[in-house]
Amino acid sequence: MAILVTGGAGYIGSHTCIELLNAGYELVVLDNLVNSKFESVRRVKELTNKEFPFYKVDLLHIDKLEEIFKENTIDAVIHLAGLKAVGESVEQPLFYYHNNITGTLNLCKVMSLYGVKNLVFSSSATVYGLPDSVPITENSPLQAKNPYGQTKLMIEQVLQDLYQSDKEWSISLLRYFNPIGAHESGRLGEDPQGIPNNLMPYITQVAIGKLPELHIFGNNYSTADGTGVRDYIHVVDLAKGHVCALEKVWKTTGVDAFNLGTGKGYSVLEIVQAFEKASGVEIPFRVIGPRPGDIGACYADPIKAKINLGWQAQRGLEEMCRDAWRWQEQNPLGYETNKKDTTLKLDVLL
Ligand code: NAD
Ligand code: UD1
Repeated sequence: MAILVTGGAGYIGSHTCIELLNAGYELVVLDNLVNSKFESVRRVKELTNKEFPFYKVDLLHIDKLEEIFKENTIDAVIHLAGLKAVGESVEQPLFYYHNNITGTLNLCKVMSLYGVKNLVFSSSATVYGLPDSVPITENSPLQAKNPYGQTKLMIEQVLQDLYQSDKEWSISLLRYFNPIGAHESGRLGEDPQGIPNNLMPYITQVAIGKLPELHIFGNNYSTADGTGVRDYIHVVDLAKGHVCALEKVWKTTGVDAFNLGTGKGYSVLEIVQAFEKASGVEIPFRVIGPRPGDIGACYADPIKAKINLGWQAQRGLEEMCRDAWRWQEQNPLGYETNKKDTTLKLDVLL
């Protein structure tokens, strides 16, 4: 009985693999390494002292994907593979739609062919667009503000339709809020390409001296201190949410969406202060104009996941900052020192 983890070499995927292995599951991991390194997979094996097959396969190559199902007995899939940079999705929408949507269609086709109908999908709080009110429940209106968000919304719809066509499917749509932090060993963490888009990796790179100062995107929002408020969740808590979702998917059929967040929002300034306290390093910052498309406050109502999945985030902001800092300090250059290979991207486009 094996679980196929797509995108298993990535930030959330590698932490999810650890939790699945610790829970006793057998794994098969697929990733094309377009935004990750094999080193994370090696470290997952090292940390758990467990073995599993890894396939450097692109979801767009359906024949290779099918071979994985032929060679292994797959019982469920945790589907994290996808491209996730909002700005890049605006610049290259076709690339994003092709990768995320076609990749998922291929996966579902092969799953159907092999009678594998248990799926946990990585969705995002981005499907709520500009929320009318907070905390955000799963019933809040859905809207996409950019091609990346649109791919998540479209995939959610595809999966709803798939279930309507075949009631044997069991699908969890996990809407992640803002994952930060790293494995407490300091061996796994977030390894962004180039200048980070997101707050925590930007802060840790300022702390290590790679970037000179943090730019705070606006301090005029209607929040307590004027800076943006988000629901930051420790990546290990998020990873554990996948194990709970898998257990639910196993027992039921249907499609259900769950917010994976803590239910508590922190402002940018609160994050900076908490990080400074946890690391002992001062973070120089400058307030600049708001980032286009940004919202003031976004945090989850996580009660549905607590009731239905028996899952609740356990780790607080101090641990998130401490673990993010440990990862950055121990791995100042991420998983590797050499430049990323971008040829895979070209392969996909050709
Ligand atoms: P990540 O980039 O670290 O991991 C995604 C992995 O998918 C990468 O290892 C990449 O190489 C792989 N991949 C991409 N396209 C592929 C393809 N066609 N075939 C095979 N592998 C492919 O990102 P992450 O932060 O770990 O995110 C995992 C998932 O969670 C993504 O779907 C993302 O959209 C979603 N998500 C992430 C966040 C976040 O803040 N990190 C928030 C909400 C949702
Ligand atoms: C980002 C993504 C969103 C995704 C979410 C969760 C963008 C535009 N949006 O949003 O699609 O669902 O992550 O992964 O990338 N901030 C700064 N300075 C920085 C970076 C961020 O002030 O250098 C602020 C932002 O304005 C925001 C907060 O920090 O208020 C968090 O930003 P970020 O980590 O990018 O997450 P989201 O804005 O939630």
